[in-house]
Amino acid sequence: MHSLQHSILGITNSNKCLLGGFVYDNTLFNRLGTSVRSQHTNEFRRGVHLSRIYGQGFSGGFMEREKIDLIAQSSLDINEVKDLDILLERVLTNARRFFNADAGSIYLKQEDKLMFSYTQNDTLQKRLGPDKKLVYNTFFIPINNQSIAGYVAKNREVVNIPDVYKLGGSEPYSFDPNFDTISNYRTLSMLTVPMTNQRGDVLGVMQIINAQDDQGNVIAFNRSDESLIKHFGASAALAVERAQMTRDIIMRMISMAELRDPKETGAHVNRVAAYSVEIYEAWARKKGIPAEEVKRQKDILRMAAMLHDVGKVAISDMILKKPGKLLSNEFEVIKSHSYLGARLFKNARSDFDEMAAEVALTHHDKWNGTGYPGHIDPISEEPLPGFEGPDGRPLPKKGEEIPLFGRIVAAADVYDALSSIRCYKEIWEEERVLEELRNCSGTHFDPEIIDAFFSCLDVIKSIATRYPDEPD
Ligand code: C2E
Ligand code: SIN
Ligand code: SIN
Ligand code: FE
Ligand code: FE
Repeated sequence: MHSLQHSILGITNSNKCLLGGFVYDNTLFNRLGTSVRSQHTNEFRRGVHLSRIYGQGFSGGFMEREKIDLIAQSSLDINEVKDLDILLERVLTNARRFFNADAGSIYLKQEDKLMFSYTQNDTLQKRLGPDKKLVYNTFFIPINNQSIAGYVAKNREVVNIPDVYKLGGSEPYSFDPNFDTISNYRTLSMLTVPMTNQRGDVLGVMQIINAQDDQGNVIAFNRSDESLIKHFGASAALAVERAQMTRDIIMRMISMAELRDPKETGAHVNRVAAYSVEIYEAWARKKGIPAEEVKRQKDILRMAAMLHDVGKVAISDMILKKPGKLLSNEFEVIKSHSYLGARLFKNARSDFDEMAAEVALTHHDKWNGTGYPGHIDPISEEPLPGFEGPDGRPLPKKGEEIPLFGRIVAAADVYDALSSIRCYKEIWEEERVLEELRNCSGTHFDPEIIDAFFSCLDVIKSIATRYPDEPD
């Protein structure tokens, strides 16, 4: 990276900025406006394809600059993202766009294995249609030389294979055709890069599949792609490391509140959060919400939803862990977890604080106005002005008085609570859970949210497999 940066940008001591951990010359970015930049992107694409067709790499300074600019753009883009799931999506989208690749996957290192964590595939996506998401399951592979991803993680090398079905025979790894068989897909060219941080730790592996020319024919990755993909790998590693740290901090916050109930673990909050994002995307698609807004909101939602029950930290174990049904005065105490959670974010500084407060406060309000805590000021615990009921208590919120993200998390939370074991309840059968959600559409839940939920049920079920409850 260093030599590349030196040769392309020259060295300046000022105007440097840190992008994905790389130092770039600020003035370059300032000189190129966004529109100019995207125009150059097209130029670049064409150049890339010409270079592929004619088998030439680029060496001219102009193209090099554009390449660096593109990579920097991708780094900027992924550095805005704070949540891990959303980040993986962004990283892979950017890398695939850069190499005009049909598909790709990301594996994250977890202990001594690689976890298949995220995948995209345009061909399979087209077969599904625009409204459906690809469903994938998580699996683990060992970090050893037997698989391509395992080899790359173990040896920290880029592996560039023109046709995975025509390996030379001298490689230690082999290609596993299982996925192709199941999905009726044909993998040909594959570029696999380690995601390595500055200390040299491998955080995962990114695999880009089936580079295409302008006509959509699958071609091999250029040799010079190998050094470019390293930059993606490195900046992705940095962003992933930061996102994992953010998630760890959130998990630590939650563990104070929720691990006190041994049956309600971090897996629950991850599921509720991931379901919420899916429901939001399905809802937003139907509503025609601009993609930019969805992109921005879902990152914040992913984290805010994880914290929906953080107010339980203030509830005594006597009540929270009670094995049976709660007495009405005990349930009154439980209800306070909504506004006590919101209070933790009272000095709202960011969109994240604001959404986390909103979700904590409103995830138990019900569409028909029978939920809690209603129009309450979380700090004073008094009704908001004009929302005092005859009994002096806050009037309930109903319908769209309940913020969208509260309505979404409500459905995700109940779906998961019913599908799980709790200290006070058994697991419900799937059919019974779905029936309950359907029955409560329009009473407990916003009907549009329930419609959105059912439209992405297959994805929701696959998420559950990614966050299984830990055995006792
Ligand atoms: P939670 O366990 O995360 O449950 C979230 C929500 O899922 C509940 O909100 C409720 O709307 C729904 N839910 C959970 N289990 C059932 C069920 O068996 N039937 C139905 N119809 N809905 C269910 P809710 O009721 O406001 O409760 C909030 C929290 O209060 C619960 O969070 C749990 O921590 C606690 N809680 C509620 N009921 C009991 C209970 O009977 N015993 C104990 N120990 N805790 C309870
Ligand atoms: C290059 O070879 O320099 C451009 C990278 C590509 O072919 O995608
Ligand atoms: C994932 O988001 O799919 C894996 C990362 C995690 O478990 O936090
Ligand atoms: Fe709750
Ligand atoms: Fe919950």
